[in-house]
Amino acid sequence: MSSTVIDGIDYGPLAGLVGQWQGDKGMDIAPDPDMPKEENPYYETIVYEAVGDATNANRQVLAVLFYRQVVSRKSDRKVFHDQCGYWTWDKATGEVTHSLTIPRAMCVLAGGKAATSGSATTLEVQAKLGDADWGVVQQPFLRDNASTKAFRIALTVDGNTLKYREITTLDIYGKTFAHSDENELTRV
Ligand code: HEM
Repeated sequence: MSSTVIDGIDYGPLAGLVGQWQGDKGMDIAPDPDMPKEENPYYETIVYEAVGDATNANRQVLAVLFYRQVVSRKSDRKVFHDQCGYWTWDKATGEVTHSLTIPRAMCVLAGGKAATSGSATTLEVQAKLGDADWGVVQQPFLRDNASTKAFRIALTVDGNTLKYREITTLDIYGKTFAHSDENELTRV
């Protein structure tokens, strides 16, 4: 693999993400009040930016990427999901974190690890509502009507191909619903 150092900072397993990506093979499975589920084919752009390092308590040094993800429905070409956050990597422990926020007024901080297989790097992180380490914060209306109980994502980057699958476990319309999103993107 090419160097993982950018402007003097080692981004380790995050380095391969840096850049702009586009993909039009997205599939969103979302809750719907009138049907068992809603299926939304989508296309999207994700931009990952190397933003430097963050030092905590003078000891922990995290390499940090910022990202913005903008997702449009194929049926009407309108943006229906907008997300941003950070991925971090701690070289000393190998720990990877993924923080995200979405316009419904909720945030997730997920944690996990990276693994490599040949030229591919996979990042896998998860969070659960109420977990002391990797949790979910949501506004009261969501808590009471569309509560996120868990979130997990597996993202694999291999050269100019990026694939992810994420599952957000929701408590909505009186049942537990696996809200899922997956796509394959190419570096542009
Ligand atoms: C590609 C990514 C995603 C897409 C395209 C997407 C799309 C959708 C859609 C279409 C709905 C149904 C309600 C509506 O039409 O607005 C929905 C509901 C919801 N999504 Fe997502 N979503 C994505 C990722 C996420 C993530 C990462 C989270 C949180 C970790 C999340 C949290 C929720 C919640 C809490 C609801 C329930 C609100 C409701 O249905 O009224 N979504 N999403």
